[in-house]
Amino acid sequence: MPTIFVCGATGTQGGALVSNILKSPGLKAHAVARDPSSEASEALKARGVTIFKGDFNDEDSLRVAIQGCTGLFINLALDLTDLTQEVAQAKRLLSVGKKAGVEHVIYSSGISVDQLERHRHWDPSSLIARALLNKREIEHEVRTAGFKYYTIIRPGNFMTNVLTPLVNMQYPELVEKAEVTTPLAPDVLFPMVDTDDIGKFGVAAFQDPERFNAKEFEIASELMRLQDVMKAISKVTGRDVKINYMSQEEIDNQISTNPLLAGQLLFSDIVEFVDMDSVRAWGIPLGTFEDFLPRERERVAQTYFR
Ligand SMILES: NC(=O)c1ccc[n+]([C@@H]2O[C@H](COP(=O)([O-])OP(=O)(O)OC[C@H]3O[C@@H](n4cnc5c(N)ncnc54)[C@H](OP(=O)(O)O)[C@@H]3O)[C@@H](O)[C@H]2O)c1
Repeated sequence: MPTIFVCGATGTQGGALVSNILKSPGLKAHAVARDPSSEASEALKARGVTIFKGDFNDEDSLRVAIQGCTGLFINLALDLTDLTQEVAQAKRLLSVGKKAGVEHVIYSSGISVDQLERHRHWDPSSLIARALLNKREIEHEVRTAGFKYYTIIRPGNFMTNVLTPLVNMQYPELVEKAEVTTPLAPDVLFPMVDTDDIGKFGVAAFQDPERFNAKEFEIASELMRLQDVMKAISKVTGRDVKINYMSQEEIDNQISTNPLLAGQLLFSDIVEFVDMDSVRAWGIPLGTFEDFLPRERERVAQTYFR
């Protein structure tokens, strides 16, 4: 039975892939967990995922967990305190996967990673730029690793960014103060991704590797302005979310001291890197924010009504 090794099965993207694998007769999932007795790991085991104790930094544990797998889904957590980790982990996973006889590797990268210099606000010295350049290096490793099939997906802005835990970093004032502050203009469109769609694309690719082989593409579920996102949040929380649009002077004053600002500014033209017709052409049904919020009502409640 085709078996997929899923990175980050207890997390957002890996969790979405696992859910879609479990809905697909004939596919199985393996994963490592740093704590196989955690609530999240136990829940995965109960749903049929084979969990091994392991760590992306521990080659021996990966060798055991990837043994017998035909597919490898690489998705690595961003560690802003140690930017060297992501590339090292990817190389380790690719090397172990290759030796174990994996045929198809899928890497989940980020939107526009292959053409970062085209961004109006590209600053190669920023922290976010270094993190994105690491993803570009991993893309190169994936392309050249010599697997029978490879696919690179580049998802946009996760809808889960408005939920715990990501909301604390993405919109730090949203939960407590019902406010968000942005350096972007009101008409900027965000390529929003229902992370379940990442899982759907992953399964589609693993089930039809010839169709997805050597394909590299952006994934967005729908394009939305921040004000539309926040209007939907206001509706479900009953609290009017206020958006503070920063002036150019405020941006200039904060850009050297706030490392997250450079990342936010990249989003000013991010929509230019996504062609929704091409995304839809894959024929995979895409989620909407309107459906996402009621589907995730428990997490919405945990985030906003703790
Ligand atoms: N947020 C966005 O809008 C967005 C958009 C595009 C791309 N991305 C990218 O998405 C990536 C993060 O994906 P995500 O949101 O799915 O991650 P996530 O929800 O934070 O989950 C991270 C997962 O990785 C596991 N993990 C972390 N370090 C590990 C290690 N050393 N060994 C084994 N497992 C480890 C965690 O397991 P445990 O904690 O359970 O051990 C967890 O399952 C980042 O690279 C980010 O740049 C994000």
